[in-house]
Amino acid sequence: MSAAASKAPPPGARPDWTIDQGWDNYAEAEHQVWVTLYQRQSQLLPHRACDAYLKGLDALDLHRGGIPDFRRLNLELTRLTGWQVVAVPGLVPDEVFFDHLANRRFPAGQFIRKPDELDYLEEPDIFHDVFGHVPMLTDPTFADYMQAYGAGGLRALKLRHLHHLARLYWYTVEFGLMQTPQGLRIYGAGIVSSRAESVFALDDPSPNRLGFDLERVMRTLYRIDDFQQVYFVIPSLAELLRVTLQDFGPLYDRLEHAADVAIDAILPSDRVITRGTQAYANARAAAQ
Ligand code: PHE
Ligand code: FE
Repeated sequence: MSAAASKAPPPGARPDWTIDQGWDNYAEAEHQVWVTLYQRQSQLLPHRACDAYLKGLDALDLHRGGIPDFRRLNLELTRLTGWQVVAVPGLVPDEVFFDHLANRRFPAGQFIRKPDELDYLEEPDIFHDVFGHVPMLTDPTFADYMQAYGAGGLRALKLRHLHHLARLYWYTVEFGLMQTPQGLRIYGAGIVSSRAESVFALDDPSPNRLGFDLERVMRTLYRIDDFQQVYFVIPSLAELLRVTLQDFGPLYDRLEHAADVAIDAILPSDRVITRGTQAYANARAAAQ
């Protein structure tokens, strides 16, 4: 999710905050960071990421010669689902971000992380944004979901319920898991772009894994500084789209009076897939 304090685009950016990717200006060392990250993750993700993601990754050929050139990437992406990737200088204001999504444009950071921070970054870079998010945008159902989310974001801003809608983004687009006949699979961009969390999210006994419930997700706090303590599991992308196409107005009204839910809570109404030990989170907290 993207928030920037200032509402005016930085110098050099267009009014909609987009910039040229400037693909010709990447240094060889920057392409090399992409290649390293790409190789690591693409080896890890078969049998971990969902089929839609793996199919998209394959279709987009994201490994050709380092950092993808958006001009070439967009030819394929537009052909598949009508989506485009646009370069932005960094985080953009919420309404700018949602307006892009509502028009099937995904704003992606233009810069790439440094070789000494392969596993940790504070702001989403082009690897997270493109490797993490764009393969899912080749799936027609997910493509519709992201567009609807953008429109819903503009609406949530007006209704002053963005904090609720943002949790939906977090627990689906960024950290979502899916139940499949072959077992749990990842579709969240924050997981597939992280080597450690790609393993942790599926295999570690620490986090809770709970059946997805829209209202429950919107009530649940989240952490941005470490692995998640809870993941929500959808039955399918079609089901995610189906439940989110309802009018959120009445739901927002109900949420006015509903208490937030702690990140490690399990409620009697939850469908528990894994009851986590929270051992990882507890050990990290004790070490502080
Ligand atoms: N249905 C939501 C609303 O009424 C919009 C939305 C769709 C939000 C899909 C997120 C995902 O606001
Ligand atoms: Fe992201």
